[in-house]
Amino acid sequence: MTILVTGGAGYIGSHTCIELLNQGHKVVVVDNLVNSHSESLQRVEELTGKNIPFYAVDLSNEAEITKVFSEHSIEAVIHFAGLKAVGESVKQPIRYYDNNIRSTLVLCKLMQSFSVKHLVFSSSATVYGLAESNPIPETAPLSATNPYGRTKLFIEYILNDWITTFDGASVALLRYFNPVGAHASGRIGEDPQGIPNNLMPYITQVAAVRREKLSIFGNDYDTVDGTGVRDYIHVVDLAMGHVKALDALIHLTGSHVYNLGTGNGTSVLELVQAFQQATGQPIPYEISARRPGDVATCFADSSKAERELNWKAVRGIVEMCRDSWKWQKENPNGYK
Ligand code: NAD
Ligand code: WQD
Repeated sequence: MTILVTGGAGYIGSHTCIELLNQGHKVVVVDNLVNSHSESLQRVEELTGKNIPFYAVDLSNEAEITKVFSEHSIEAVIHFAGLKAVGESVKQPIRYYDNNIRSTLVLCKLMQSFSVKHLVFSSSATVYGLAESNPIPETAPLSATNPYGRTKLFIEYILNDWITTFDGASVALLRYFNPVGAHASGRIGEDPQGIPNNLMPYITQVAAVRREKLSIFGNDYDTVDGTGVRDYIHVVDLAMGHVKALDALIHLTGSHVYNLGTGNGTSVLELVQAFQQATGQPIPYEISARRPGDVATCFADSSKAERELNWKAVRGIVEMCRDSWKWQKENPNGYK
């Protein structure tokens, strides 16, 4: 199949392009490079030996995106494009609503006019808000605690409404937990701009002595050691989840939601420990105040994806740490 991958130059998108190409699909990428570099796609081409038609345009630019649909026989779309920094979304809510929602509306409109009937959407565990219990199933109540989360929630509602008006079409809403790790080659990985917001890239930058020490946000949560517990998932497992979702969507109609996580919770201290063991790098840390908005624990019930998509995460914490570190070590300044 020919798949349009929006946001394909980004972290999860670039890893998914590799898995799609390895499965024999053709890939076309649209990305405005607001949070990525086209170098990632050149490396995907090197790793796979395949060519990727690339459009460096904004997904909300209807005229440009119409051209993309006209120039390729697109059969399905995987939609990663979006802004994703929680803190930034609080400071720039209108930019987040405008970017994430308007681009999705343009995409839906053009998919329908070009009769492209299958869409995989990057949602997030953030739509569970302050979940009351763990593991979290897809049926848990939905809410959001910040503008970024609300864009995900609103887009889920929009896609659910849209799909009922599009005969024979299907959408998969994939709710990711905490993606980490990198391609085993060390050639592609996460390349955050400025100070990383997320734990794993912060740890790898401390290991590389780009940052002095890790601040652990709170050690008085009701968890195994007082630090926050999350469901870290290797980005290559996550990428495979998209391929499996696409395989399933071809035979489905309507909207289908799946959690993509491992089902295992790991605390901040456990992750630091695992990283030190996997890489031999010391991670100096201090305990600081809780980060506003953080929950104590968040991990997935991913049994639905296992049952219905025949997908399961297979890479463990050690592999996640090892691959994150290989990427950081071999690309100390990311793609620059
Ligand atoms: P990323 O920033 O690396 O990738 C997103 C890509 O979209 C970037 O390359 C960016 O340049 C592009 N983009 C943004 N707005 C665009 C627009 N209007 N037009 C064209 N391109 C645009 O982020 P990622 O970690 O790869 O995340 C991919 C998707 O998964 C996002 O939608 C994100 O919200 C979602 N998600 C990410 C995580 C995570 O922790 N990384 C967790 C859950 C969900
Ligand atoms: C993990 C744990 C922190 C940094 C975020 C978004 C979520 C989703 C994934 C997109 C927490 C602790 C972190 C640090 C720390 N993204 N921590 N020191 O908050 O679970 O999820 O990314 O959809 O929407 O909110 O991930 O990696 O930021 O934090 O102690 O320097 O690490 O308190 O317990 P989070 P994270």
